[in-house]
Amino acid sequence: MLNLTAEERSMLSGKQGKAVQKAMQILVALGNIYGAENLIPVSSVQIAGVSYDNLGEAGLQWLAEMAENGGKTRVLTTLNPAGMDRENWQVLGIPASFAEKQLLVLDAFSAMGVITTCTCTPYLVGNLPRFGESIAWAESSAVCFANSIIGARTNREGGPSALASALTGRTPAYGLHQGENRKPGIFVEVKAELKDNTDFGALGIVLGEKISLIGVKGPKIIPYLRGVDSASIDQLKTLCASAATYGGLAMFHMEGITPEAHHRHPEESISITPSDIDQAKSSLNDTAYSEVDFISLGCPHLSIREIARIADLLRGKKVIKEFWITTAGPTEHMADQMGYSAIIEASGAKFAVDTCCVVAPIRGRFHTMATDSAKACYYAYAKNQFNTKFLPFDEVVREALA
Ligand code: F3S
Repeated sequence: MLNLTAEERSMLSGKQGKAVQKAMQILVALGNIYGAENLIPVSSVQIAGVSYDNLGEAGLQWLAEMAENGGKTRVLTTLNPAGMDRENWQVLGIPASFAEKQLLVLDAFSAMGVITTCTCTPYLVGNLPRFGESIAWAESSAVCFANSIIGARTNREGGPSALASALTGRTPAYGLHQGENRKPGIFVEVKAELKDNTDFGALGIVLGEKISLIGVKGPKIIPYLRGVDSASIDQLKTLCASAATYGGLAMFHMEGITPEAHHRHPEESISITPSDIDQAKSSLNDTAYSEVDFISLGCPHLSIREIARIADLLRGKKVIKEFWITTAGPTEHMADQMGYSAIIEASGAKFAVDTCCVVAPIRGRFHTMATDSAKACYYAYAKNQFNTKFLPFDEVVREALA
């Protein structure tokens, strides 16, 4: 049974407004379901379920009611990608009827004090918790990144529970908020050399497959990886997205790289070979793909380093296919300052800011998408009915010129 402080009981009673009461009801229900003994403060929130394509009318109405009922954030809160770029939506072919609804969603969040930067890489643009902090994040790739790479503590929240944490500054103390649940449950020897984003994306696929094959299930299983000698932040964000998508992983340890990789190794072990990685990569290349007619980079959202690389590759050239560069608003501003945006836009490639190819309403609009993201391939096929071509980063850019 959940123990509440006097302040939390006041929130639950409705004395602090209807929105706070509703938020506290959600957290209490969750806490009771998961056997939490108390709520704990959070320092940062990231809310998913922002695209009107996923929310629909019922979701929009719920958010509007929470705003009308006085909901206000108590901690730093940002959003997951929305269904469109707020400024560039017409250029990206988003219907006006959708844009109208999407703007209402963002208005509701804004009225509650949410910073309407919409990104799955909040840690790159100012929503960066420190090691050991409890937070309430919802986007699966960001949850895996926060737990594994930063060492912050979060369960994978749903949209409503993340908003509830934003409005109360609390979350139930269970799961990955507790140190004993962050220990590794399986040892993974990585025997393959990982060179680029496609290799790290493939590693996430193989992890998911192998862990499910030995019958260990659920987000509670935490692998301890040995054998990855180095990994950039960009490669790690790719791995986190893939491991969360294909394996439901909310956390992993990586020897020599992640901050909590100091536990005793589990006895149960698996290994990952070069041929496992190659097979996973081939599985994302549809044999029957037609000519690539859509290119997307930025799943998870691109860093400024990656945008600089795209600008290098596109300088003085023209793309001949629809090419989306998906990133967060503050990262695009840096690209503007550095002149990268001008080079990219002169090539005909399009910025898709604060949105992505998965949450935008583009189902069935293209036949075959080229990308370096294993996660984007999964949803391109499952949600948008596109075939996929899975290529290293530079080759994806070159595909736009071919
Ligand atoms: Fe981010 Fe969209 Fe990929 S939310 S992780 S770019 S599916």
